[in-house]
Amino acid sequence: MVRVSREPFPIFALPSEFSFAWYRPGCEAWWHDIQHRADKLTPITSELFHQSFGEASAELPRRQCFLLDVNGQPIGTATAWLGLRQNGEVWGRLHWVAIVPEFQRRGLAKPLLSVVCERMRALHPERSFLRTAAERPAAIRLYLKFGFVPEMRTDAERELWSAILARIDQDQGKGTGALGEV
Ligand SMILES: CC(C)(COP(=O)(O)OP(=O)(O)OC[C@H]1O[C@@H](n2cnc3c(N)ncnc32)[C@H](O)[C@@H]1OP(=O)(O)O)[C@@H](O)C(=O)NCCC(=O)NCCS
Repeated sequence: MVRVSREPFPIFALPSEFSFAWYRPGCEAWWHDIQHRADKLTPITSELFHQSFGEASAELPRRQCFLLDVNGQPIGTATAWLGLRQNGEVWGRLHWVAIVPEFQRRGLAKPLLSVVCERMRALHPERSFLRTAAERPAAIRLYLKFGFVPEMRTDAERELWSAILARIDQDQGKGTGALGEV
């Protein structure tokens, strides 16, 4: 999904008992724990953090954000990362968004994304993208709310997206079955 715009992202306020923290050395363990608890589709291996962020790890303190509960425990994360597009341009990349299951559906991903997407806009003012999967209808709904739109460059992508969007409309985000990466 892509967003090509200089307009601000939607702002959702964080309830006062929660707080944000930006990456500092050692937060890899937080990130791994959150992804492991939240992500039922991707095997969260011990190498994944390094595979995802290792090449530009010096960027993490200003790009990777954690959501903390009232006790200061990490319960969510998202990263205002960067990525190379097919045309050779570097765009902002919203990367590895997750909220642990106990805190899902409480409106917490929205303030997390407000902060992280605004950081991404500050670093990459015009263009950003993300990768997701058809089996993640909750995430796709969230991204649509933040102005990301399906990227449809081929007939196959058009067909896939039309199935995804129809199913999201139909089942209110309780998707089943395999449609593939988008
Ligand atoms: C996607 C995810 C981050 C959403 O976090 P969350 O805190 O539950 O989301 P919120 O409560 O802030 O909801 C934000 C929006 O997402 C959508 N949404 C979230 N959960 C949903 C669900 N179970 N069904 C349908 N829509 C859902 C809704 O549009 C919602 O907005 P609304 O409440 O105004 O309708 C969370 O479900 C998650 O961590 N999933 C596993 C990891 C994952 O798939 N990450 C995305 C990788 S691309």
